[in-house]
Amino acid sequence: MSPQKVAVVTGSSSGIGYEISLILARNGFLTYATMRNPEKGANLKSIAEKEKLPIRVVQLDVTDDNSTAKAVQTVLNEADRIDVLVNNAGYGLMGAFEDLAIDEIKSQYETNVFGLIRTTQAVLPAMRRQRSGIIVNISSGAGRFGYPAASAYVSTKFAVEGLSESLSFEVEPFGIRVVLIEPGMISTNFFSSVAIAKKSLSPDSAYSQMVKAMEETAGKLMQNASSPELVARIVLDAVTSKDPKLRYQAGKDVEQWVESKKKMSDEEFHSMMKQT
Ligand SMILES: NC(=O)c1ccc[n+]([C@@H]2O[C@H](COP(=O)([O-])OP(=O)(O)OC[C@H]3O[C@@H](n4cnc5c(N)ncnc54)[C@H](OP(=O)(O)O)[C@@H]3O)[C@@H](O)[C@H]2O)c1
Repeated sequence: MSPQKVAVVTGSSSGIGYEISLILARNGFLTYATMRNPEKGANLKSIAEKEKLPIRVVQLDVTDDNSTAKAVQTVLNEADRIDVLVNNAGYGLMGAFEDLAIDEIKSQYETNVFGLIRTTQAVLPAMRRQRSGIIVNISSGAGRFGYPAASAYVSTKFAVEGLSESLSFEVEPFGIRVVLIEPGMISTNFFSSVAIAKKSLSPDSAYSQMVKAMEETAGKLMQNASSPELVARIVLDAVTSKDPKLRYQAGKDVEQWVESKKKMSDEEFHSMMKQT
């Protein structure tokens, strides 16, 4: 009998990471639902107890070298393998490019890019030894096209896309696959947790109207947002597939945007986005 598959999910305290942890555990994966503040894992733990699910809550702050190394070591000590890593932890930084403080941009990259790199580098040696594994990177529609007031966030997701494409070539010979998940608008805490650049909040900013307009647009688009369960189901499909694809979109909105970007010239796409 093959050993129970082991999954590690970052940012499992809420939203997409929470649902991914649940669906993986419900489908038999020994799931390490990691989060920077394990007190936020109470709900997951109580569902796990009720449904007798194989979920363990482990502290992991993706911006912290020690925390990341310790969490991965804990998993390997207990389970001796890692079959699935879901790099999900992330947040959005909103604000006009000119208004962004360099420290605000660095923090955005520290979580969305360096956090993902740190966790992946910690897990890869074990996957390489096993000669199997799948790394699922939660990107975004924002990893495929830009939009205003989001240059920092969008550029982190473009970084995740490029990094994943390159990495997939390197690790494939060791039986390891890399998958990108590109959600559209998803109803989670994401928008209430968005960090807004301090300068863009000031009425003195040349861009304050534009940032306000973008906030309103995001609010409107959120009315048709998909559920985090949809993203979790797509992750489950990818990690249980014999031959997973490199990219999966999650949501009708993002499917349409990506399709339009393929069909349209840059200028046509730009003008469509401006109207939206
Ligand atoms: N919602 C959307 O519309 C949407 C669309 C496309 C892509 N995404 C991507 O989906 C992912 C999950 O977002 P979500 O929508 O589920 O939002 P969410 O509900 O706000 O969840 C974000 C998660 O990331 C965690 N996190 C933030 N910084 C962290 C750190 N330093 N270390 C560990 N965990 C950290 C948060 O933990 P705390 O509870 O401690 O803050 C939380 O668990 C993100 O990568 C986001 O970019 C979201």
